[in-house]
Amino acid sequence: MQQPEGQRRIRIVSTGAYVPEKILTNADLEKMVDTSDEWIMTRTGIKERRIAREDQASSDLGIAAARQALERAGLTIKDIDIIVVAANTGDTTFPATSSWIHKGLDASHIPAFDVQAGCTGMIYTLIVAEGLILSGAAKRALLIGTEILTKFTNWEDRGTCVLFGDGAGAFVVEESKDDSGMISHYWGADGSLADLLYIPAGGSRLPTSEQTVADRLHFIRMKGNETFKHAVRRMGEAALVALRRAGLHKEAVDFLIPHQANIRIIEATAERLKLPPEKVVINIQKYGNCSVATIPLALNELVEEKRLKKGDIIVFDAFGAGFTWAAAVYRW
Ligand code: ACO
Repeated sequence: MQQPEGQRRIRIVSTGAYVPEKILTNADLEKMVDTSDEWIMTRTGIKERRIAREDQASSDLGIAAARQALERAGLTIKDIDIIVVAANTGDTTFPATSSWIHKGLDASHIPAFDVQAGCTGMIYTLIVAEGLILSGAAKRALLIGTEILTKFTNWEDRGTCVLFGDGAGAFVVEESKDDSGMISHYWGADGSLADLLYIPAGGSRLPTSEQTVADRLHFIRMKGNETFKHAVRRMGEAALVALRRAGLHKEAVDFLIPHQANIRIIEATAERLKLPPEKVVINIQKYGNCSVATIPLALNELVEEKRLKKGDIIVFDAFGAGFTWAAAVYRW
């Protein structure tokens, strides 16, 4: 297949990550709801997840990840032109989580904004950053994905409370000077399915009241089974379209970095791409579904374990609330 020639690209200069210290195991959950380690492991692949402290907000996790990414790039916040934050469980309804991160990083010289796109958020920020950097609006961007889902979890609902965890990841990105970087992407959304996975109350549609709290409408609601089917279909499709746009065959893929929502969704996506297990990055057993943070956490692990070599082809692939989905093909 033909690859795009002379294409300008953005590259990830460095990665950073942060997860809270507290671990909640499946054994702990067995004491909280009617579930079992066996059910959670076989149906989701999750063994344990991280839980943020009471005094931590999403921006705190994001700031820690961002500081690590900056340090590893040998940069300071003064070298950054814009901050873009992916978050669904922000510090406040407004201002955006990026504002609290902006304050924490002392970034008064630059703009900052949020991208809210369900668990797909981090791939959306990469696509937005590509537009900003290649158009000349910014030279270097700090992308942060951060989430504290466990503060929006109904701990009495066994269908959702076993799934989520907290964490954050960050990328410093700039224009590539060689053929490394993001080669192609594909993104999509279907708002007609928004109510399959959402938090019903706390917004202008249904403001918080004693009744909404009593009805537990301020927690995550998900129709898991239907969400599962859409995730499998859209993630497979997104990866294949992004690969076609990159002019690459499935065999060219060295690593699939999928959103970590359920091991069975990951396996179905890997099967669609005909990828052997060693090419699929999986850390769901340790962190559960940290929404926007899963992809940067997984890439950060690959970097730290020195498993990536120059030229490797990575496919980032995600699906989330909205519904939204996206895939990006990246040459390391
Ligand atoms: N422990 C034990 N039993 C359980 C549990 C549990 N924790 N949760 C559900 N069950 C039971 C159900 O009650 C049901 O019992 P029944 O047959 O007696 O009614 C049975 O297990 C099967 O339930 P399903 O919901 O059909 O189980 P499923 O196999 O679909 O797994 C799950 C549920 C894990 C939630 C799965 O549907 C899933 O992963 N969905 C997709 C999640 C996702 O991708 N989200 C998108 C991204 S997230 C984001 O954007 C924030």
